[in-house]
Amino acid sequence: MLLQAALAITIPLMVLGQVNGEWPFDVTTLAAPDGSITAKFVSFGATMTELWVKDKEGKARDIILGYDDNTRLLTDPAHPVFNPIVGRYANRIKNGTFSIPITKLPQPDGPNVYHIPTNDHDGQDTLHGGIYGWDRRNWTITEKSETSVTYRHFDAADEGFPGNVTAFATHTVENGGVLKTTVHASATEKTPIMLTQHIYWNLDAFQDNSSDILSHHLQVDSSRVVEVDGDAIPTGAFIDVEGTPFDFKDAKTIDWDWNQTAGLCGGGCSGYDNCWIYDHDHSTTPGVTLWSDKSGIKLDITSNNPAVQVYTAYWLDTPRKVVHGGPSLNYTSYSAVAIEQEGYIDAINTPEWGVDQIYYPGKDFDWSSTYTFSLVE
Ligand SMILES: *[C@@H]1O[C@H](CO)[C@@H](O)[C@H](O)[C@H]1NC(C)=O
Ligand SMILES: *[C@@H]1O[C@H](CO)[C@@H](O)[C@H](O)[C@H]1NC(C)=O
Ligand SMILES: *[C@@H]1O[C@H](CO)[C@@H](O)[C@H](O)[C@H]1NC(C)=O
Ligand SMILES: *[C@@H]1O[C@H](CO)[C@@H](O)[C@H](O)[C@H]1NC(C)=O
Ligand SMILES: *[C@@H]1O[C@H](CO)[C@@H](O)[C@H](O)[C@H]1NC(C)=O
Ligand SMILES: *[C@@H]1O[C@H](CO)[C@@H](O)[C@H](O)[C@H]1NC(C)=O
Repeated sequence: MLLQAALAITIPLMVLGQVNGEWPFDVTTLAAPDGSITAKFVSFGATMTELWVKDKEGKARDIILGYDDNTRLLTDPAHPVFNPIVGRYANRIKNGTFSIPITKLPQPDGPNVYHIPTNDHDGQDTLHGGIYGWDRRNWTITEKSETSVTYRHFDAADEGFPGNVTAFATHTVENGGVLKTTVHASATEKTPIMLTQHIYWNLDAFQDNSSDILSHHLQVDSSRVVEVDGDAIPTGAFIDVEGTPFDFKDAKTIDWDWNQTAGLCGGGCSGYDNCWIYDHDHSTTPGVTLWSDKSGIKLDITSNNPAVQVYTAYWLDTPRKVVHGGPSLNYTSYSAVAIEQEGYIDAINTPEWGVDQIYYPGKDFDWSSTYTFSLVE
């Protein structure tokens, strides 16, 4: 999901520390010894900028969206949030407001009520951690090898969250086409923490005239989707996927019931931008599988998160990487599917769920996902 274009905010560039008018964008390349997977990262957002895996012909394809010029991670007014770690609180917070302990409809001037700058839906909510979320902060490299990199981010509560949070994100590649990302975060005071890694996938990499993900096959182990209001804020209810276009319990092409998806992802939007709750723990078995018959590339995702946001990128419109046919061609609606392993969205304003997302000294936050690539049989 992303900031809607009408509300996109251009970051005052000075804030982010230019050096001689430029950003020294460091790129870290990780490659598995067996050549099955190569990934590139930049420190801003601990963001993955390229991910190369082999197709059924044995040729490597870059299967994630991004920019050739990584400074656009900070300056693209569309701010599609291409593949960073998103925090301190991913997805939406109703009215940018919550209390600790959490309450339904916190009184604006009540005790222990916090306000985060709103940046979405005409100020009705905070999206992806505020105006300067973790994706727009320069993380520091603390460890690096040929197959692994660790970044640290110190979040000094300047978006209005309580307490400081220190986060370490580690990306690792392994033989056999495996990418792992883990995040460990600790807080100095009680604060909500809910993170995601916001990767936009196109398993064909725009080759052979392919331009969208509508014929990708998707499987999600979930019978419940979070019901949301017009601002994409949870109502507290869940939708049973049975008999609806949300039913991906068995693998289906993303467009299997496409004509019924108008409005499911918000007003004026077609496709998906929804939060599925997993039926089972997927720490060790895949909760999501995605593949394309064209490239033959298959992705299995395991994660310690209880939910996943699937966004078919309706609002996208920004020049493609050269390797994807850019810059004369743009990434547009359905060019990719973002699959975001996350917690229950806005659980901090939905106490009826009984989901605890408050962390404090002695209770750290851990996020992990493993992406395993193989070929369709
Ligand atoms: C939303 O938050 C603002 C403070 O940021 C407050 O003034 C306003 O009353 C809140 N709106 C509702 C409906 O609670
Ligand atoms: C961002 O952090 C990296 C180290 O992780 C450093 O090499 C780079 O110079 C930093 N960039 C800016 C603009 O501070
Ligand atoms: C939080 O960070 C700020 C800025 O670095 C510092 O002044 C403050 O003492 C820190 N608070 C705690 C509780 O560590
Ligand atoms: C791609 O489209 C062009 C123009 O329509 C066509 O000539 C070409 O054969 C297509 N390539 C593939 C691999 O389908
Ligand atoms: C979806 O709608 C389009 C245009 O109305 C129509 O041509 C197409 O057949 C429909 N597809 C399905 C699967 O119903
Ligand atoms: C690509 O997107 C940009 C906005 O990011 C827009 O200005 C431009 O017109 C688009 N180009 C094409 C070919 O649609």
